[in-house]
Amino acid sequence: MADIKGKRILLGLTGGIAAYKSAELLRQLQQDGADVQVVMTQAACGFITPATLQALSGKPVFTDMWDARVASNMAHIELSRDKDAIVVAPASADFIAKIAHGLADDLLSTLCVARECPLLVAPAMNRQMWENAATRRNIEQLQRDGVTILGPASGDQACGEVGMGRMLEPEEIADALRAFFAPKLLAGRRVLVTAGPTFEAIDAVRGITNLSSGKMGYAVAQAALDAGAQVTLVSGPTALKAPPAAKFVGVTSARDMFAAVKRHVAGTDIFVSVAAVADYHAANPSRRKIKKSDRNVTLELAPNPDILAWVAGLPKPPFCVGFAAESEKLEQYAEDKRRRKKLPLLAANRVQEAVGADENELVLLDDGGRHVLPRAPKSVLAQQLVAHIAKLYERTSGKR
Ligand code: PMT
Repeated sequence: MADIKGKRILLGLTGGIAAYKSAELLRQLQQDGADVQVVMTQAACGFITPATLQALSGKPVFTDMWDARVASNMAHIELSRDKDAIVVAPASADFIAKIAHGLADDLLSTLCVARECPLLVAPAMNRQMWENAATRRNIEQLQRDGVTILGPASGDQACGEVGMGRMLEPEEIADALRAFFAPKLLAGRRVLVTAGPTFEAIDAVRGITNLSSGKMGYAVAQAALDAGAQVTLVSGPTALKAPPAAKFVGVTSARDMFAAVKRHVAGTDIFVSVAAVADYHAANPSRRKIKKSDRNVTLELAPNPDILAWVAGLPKPPFCVGFAAESEKLEQYAEDKRRRKKLPLLAANRVQEAVGADENELVLLDDGGRHVLPRAPKSVLAQQLVAHIAKLYERTSGKR
């Protein structure tokens, strides 16, 4: 995700029980180095006090249009003038209706109408209010007006009901904001990513798999989305939540993954093969659970198709990026793989440090040589990798 360090954010709170989560959101934005100014509606003050947010932000919190603390006495205009974005979280059904119609009868709605910066809103309301025809119309209107809608999520609600309308978690809103500010290096591009392990059945309950968690592949999918690409994520079994904006295709075996890639590769500009695909599958898997015995058992393995090699060998292949996890001679083996599979770019990593971990270190190998991406969270490495891909893609696009 992109950096929001130094970004000037106006955080608006409206009346909703989710307002307590905004204190945590404020803290996270500040930890990321953003400069946050809080503005609250009167209704928001019924759920959390301005004093709490003032203490956390270290700045006065504004609630009133006529607040004399703003030098020009023009709080309704001035407070948003130097901002990079206004984020309203929680945004109530009432507030959404107001800004969809350009109403400006309190400080926060007036700031939204008078703004020059982007507006992002995180709705939070009861599921019936969210499904109400008027709310649906208002949300569509805001989207047409270029307002970014963050969420909502589905789940347990404060009223005891279950359904759509929960405000996104503070971390998710902070992530969305980081994504919002990421440079759109892949705008209009279609990116296909494979991620995670594959599972090759031996019998009804057993199989061959590996320790890939999917973290690297999912981070690449998210970074490509943040860079403005349209992303399809083909993933083996993982415990991760797929980026909501990606088209997600869940698969089990290498041959399932191959079929899914074949189905989705048409029109792809960039293919990033992060998956740890099993090289073999059981030649004769049993539909039943194989009975235990005291004798030795021999398992016959048949090779799996090489998905990346197949894509790279297409008559008009997308820009192909491979990964290689090696336990020794990292760069030598990885470069051999890159040349054998005819890849413009390959990311090499050490298997013992990469698989399952939250952090990693990559060596990017391309025709220009080696580029080291030092140890960092996989989300950061994925951003750096996407920036490198975008650069090479642009450079070679005339030659494809
Ligand atoms: O999922 P994580 O826990 O975050 O771990 C990330 C990772 C270690 C799995 C990832 O960073 C990584 O290195 N993935 C590639 C794993 C690997 O060693 O692949 P390989 O050397 O078997 O294959 C080389 C390339 O060909 C890879 O891009 C692979 O996706 C692709 N391949 C391999 C075999 C096959 N049958 N089809 C393929 O497409």
